[in-house]
Amino acid sequence: MNLVVVSNRVARGKAHEPMTGGLAAALLSVVENSGAIWVGSSGRVRDGAHKEPFAEIEALGAGALAMLDLPAAHYGGYYEGFANSALWPALHSRSDLIRTCQEDYFSYREVNAFMAKALLRFEKPGTAFWIQDYHFLALGAELRDLGVTQPIGFFLHTPWPERAVVGGVPHHRELVEAMLAYDLIGFQTQDDCDNFIGYLSADLGLNVSNGVVTSRYGTSRLQVFPIGIDPQKFAEQAAKAVSHPDVSRLRRSLNGEKLAIGVDRLDYSKGLVNRINAFDRMWTLRPSLARTASLLQIATPSRGAIEAYGNLQEELAKLVSEVNGRHGEVDWTPIRYLNKGYGQNVLAGLYRTAQVGVVTPLHDGMNLVAKEYVAAQHPADPGVLVLSKFAGAANELDTALLVNPHDIDGMAGAIATALSMPLTERRMRWEAMMEKLRAGTIQQWFADFVDALQESRLERAPDPSPMAPSLWPLRSVNSNLRYH
Ligand code: F6P
Repeated sequence: MNLVVVSNRVARGKAHEPMTGGLAAALLSVVENSGAIWVGSSGRVRDGAHKEPFAEIEALGAGALAMLDLPAAHYGGYYEGFANSALWPALHSRSDLIRTCQEDYFSYREVNAFMAKALLRFEKPGTAFWIQDYHFLALGAELRDLGVTQPIGFFLHTPWPERAVVGGVPHHRELVEAMLAYDLIGFQTQDDCDNFIGYLSADLGLNVSNGVVTSRYGTSRLQVFPIGIDPQKFAEQAAKAVSHPDVSRLRRSLNGEKLAIGVDRLDYSKGLVNRINAFDRMWTLRPSLARTASLLQIATPSRGAIEAYGNLQEELAKLVSEVNGRHGEVDWTPIRYLNKGYGQNVLAGLYRTAQVGVVTPLHDGMNLVAKEYVAAQHPADPGVLVLSKFAGAANELDTALLVNPHDIDGMAGAIATALSMPLTERRMRWEAMMEKLRAGTIQQWFADFVDALQESRLERAPDPSPMAPSLWPLRSVNSNLRYH
C-alpha cells in the first residue's frame, strides 16, 4: 500500500531544528521509516496558487516530503482565521475565544479543496490517505467529490469537546457531516470519541453501533488511538544530550538547586498562567523552597498574529516578572522564562536535568511533552511528572502526580511534593509510566491506525438508504459561498 500522510505542519529530519508542536515531531521518524509521502504546507503562500499547486518535494527517509505553497488569498482566513480562531478554541472548550467570520470559513474550505486537488498527483492504485488534525476536517469530503475511492482516514490530535461546545462553531453541522467521508476517524481518548458519538446521535440523529456510523458516504469507524513516542530513542537522545553545551551550561548554573521544567507552545490551552501562579503560591506558602528550586519555562511563541495569543504573551511576561520581583534574590532568579524553541536533541537533555516536569494544560489532546519528559529520565534517579488530569496523557501516565490546573493551591502542593519525593517512590512511579510508554509507542500507533484504515475500507459500503434530506447536501448553508 502507498500511504500519503497529510498535515498542515510538516517537519524535516533535523534533530537540532526547533519544532513547533508535537504532531510534526512525533510523525517525523515513523513517516521516515514507513516510506510514506508526507504532504503539508511549506509555510509560504503564493498568488494564484489554487490554479497551479506548487510543491517542493524532497526525500525523507524511505519516503518523501512534499511541501505546498498555499493560496495567498486564503491562508490567513484558513490558518489564523477558521482553524485557529474558531476550531482551536472550541476544540479546547474555549468558545469565549471564538472570533471568526464567513470569509474565514470560505477560506478554510478553499484550502481544504486546494489540498484535495494537490493530493491527486500522489494518487496511485493502492494508495491510502491519512489526514491529520483539525485543519483538514473537510478534506476527505473534498477528495470524495473529486472521485477518490481509496481508503481515507483522519486522526484528531486535539480533544473533541462536548456537543454543546461543538455547537458554538459556525457551520459545525456541515463540517461534521463532511467528516463522515472518512473511512476511519481516530481520537486520542475515549472521552473524545464519546463526545463525537454524542454529537452524531443528538445533533445529526445518527445511530452509532459498535463504533460504526452510516452516512451517505457509507460507513465510518470511530476508534481511539492514543498517540505515543519512541521512548527508547528519546532515552538515548537524553543520555547523549547531557554533554550538549546548552545542557551543560544549565547544569552548571544550578548550583545544587533543584529544577522544574515546563516546555509548551505559548497557547492559552497550556495553562501557563495557572502554572506560574502555582509556583508563586508555593514560594509564598513555603519560603524554605526559595533558592532550593526554580522553574525553567520554555514558552515557544505560536500564532502570534492572533489577538488571544498576543494578549497571553503580554500577560505571561508581566506575571513572570512580578513573580521574579516578589521572590527573587540578587543571586537567584525563581523563573527562567524563554520565548524560543529548541531542537529535540537539546530538549531531551533539559528534561533529564530537571527533577520535576510540569505539564499542566487546561485541555490537551495528548501532550507528548509529558511522555518525552518521562522517557528522558535517568532510570536510577528519575524525576517526577506533575501532570494535568485534563491532558490525554493522564489516561496512561496515571502514576504521575495528577493535578487539577484550576486548583492553584493543589498544584503548588503537588509541585512541592514532587520536589521532595523519595527515590523509591520516584522509581516506582517512573517504572510504571515507562511500561505504558513501551506498550504504546508511536510505531505501534502508526501501524494500528494504518491496519484499522485498511480494514474499515473493506467494511465500507455506500448506504442504500440516504440520510434525511435536511442533512444533505453538505454545502447547504450559505449560498454566497463558492467552494470550487
Ligand atoms: O495539537 C495539535 C497541533 O496540530 C499539533 O501539531 C501541535 O501541537 C500544534 O497543534 C501545532 O500548532 P501550529 O502548527 O499552529 O504551531
